[in-house]
Amino acid sequence: MQLSSHLRRLLTRRALPLAIGVLALTGCNPGAYPFDYFREMHYQQSQHLLEPQRLSPPDGSVPRTGGRPQISFAGARDLQNPVRSTPDTQKAGVALFKVNCAVCHGAAGNGESFVAQRFTANHFVPPADLASSRVRNRTDGELDWIIDNGIGGMPPFRDLLTEDQVWALVNQVRAVQGQQR
Ligand code: HEC
Repeated sequence: MQLSSHLRRLLTRRALPLAIGVLALTGCNPGAYPFDYFREMHYQQSQHLLEPQRLSPPDGSVPRTGGRPQISFAGARDLQNPVRSTPDTQKAGVALFKVNCAVCHGAAGNGESFVAQRFTANHFVPPADLASSRVRNRTDGELDWIIDNGIGGMPPFRDLLTEDQVWALVNQVRAVQGQQR
């Protein structure tokens, strides 16, 4: 009797964090983010079955179009944002933010969202308040790198968004901080 109530308590209290912990450890590459909240369609078995076989490029080949060189965080520091803030890029930034970021960072970018509550409840570092001094003090290049590569529980976006889209989002993060550039 005692054992079963102990078990039940263990299960109810520990099951969710445990499940998320296991998820975190197994990593669910591609992406390898600890909190795989979006199952992307192209990772699904059913989707793979529909795809033609891909040939791997020969070793050492470099992309002629697309593809981004992987640079270090320190190396990204002084990158200049090539996307100027115009009404068009601002509109694109707002739309991209709604689709890709608001679910975690909240519509206002202040880190308040349902998903953020789940992060906190499960003892993960929650999505940042994008107007916080930590994020303000980042350079544009650092923000670009963070969105490209992810950080902590935040997934990488380099394979989902184009370079220009990521830079438009950097401008959008500045807009959240009240710094329209
Ligand atoms: C799955 C939830 C999630 C999504 C989606 C997400 N983020 Fe994050 N983000 C986080 C978390 C969690 C952190 C805090 C990571 C840490 O500090 O360990 C974070 C941190 C950040 C930071 C601050 C990093 C720093 O150290 O200064 C920026 C900037 C940021 N996110 C921008 C974005 C943008 C822009 C998008 C949309 C393209 C986005 N995030 C999408 C969860 C998310």
